[in-house]
Amino acid sequence: MKISIATDHGAFDLKNKVKSYLESIGHEVIDFGCFSDESVDYPPIIAKAASAVSIGRCERGIVFCGSGIGASIVANKINGIRCALVYAPELVRLSREHNNANMIALGGRFTDFDTAKELIDIFLNTEFQGGRHLRRVEQIMELEKFL
Ligand code: RB5
Repeated sequence: MKISIATDHGAFDLKNKVKSYLESIGHEVIDFGCFSDESVDYPPIIAKAASAVSIGRCERGIVFCGSGIGASIVANKINGIRCALVYAPELVRLSREHNNANMIALGGRFTDFDTAKELIDIFLNTEFQGGRHLRRVEQIMELEKFL
């Protein structure tokens, strides 16, 4: 899979570890930064990773910040993005099965690497269930027309 990633300084180390992990299991990663642990503003960086998913350059995206909150808010501003802020396996599973999430946000100050790997494996390997959930996802995407 082609996967976009991005972070601010709040999850710089975690982003780099996740990038190596994704590549080690055969994924292609497009890394939108940041590229040092110096303090940076996350919105423009995260928006690039989300745009890559929005235009189809990447199939999925994983974004990070200290809490994951800012990253998820930014990603969800981009058309076509359904980004779930996830901390627990059950949440990431549901984000795929029910919400067809195409991105997840992780909080680097609250999520260790082993947990991140577990969450990412579920994100990449869980199918959307469709059915009644498809109707609801379509209703969410309809809302973009009012922006
Ligand atoms: C940066 O200190 C921090 O605010 C940011 O990484 C993120 O947690 C924002 O939601």
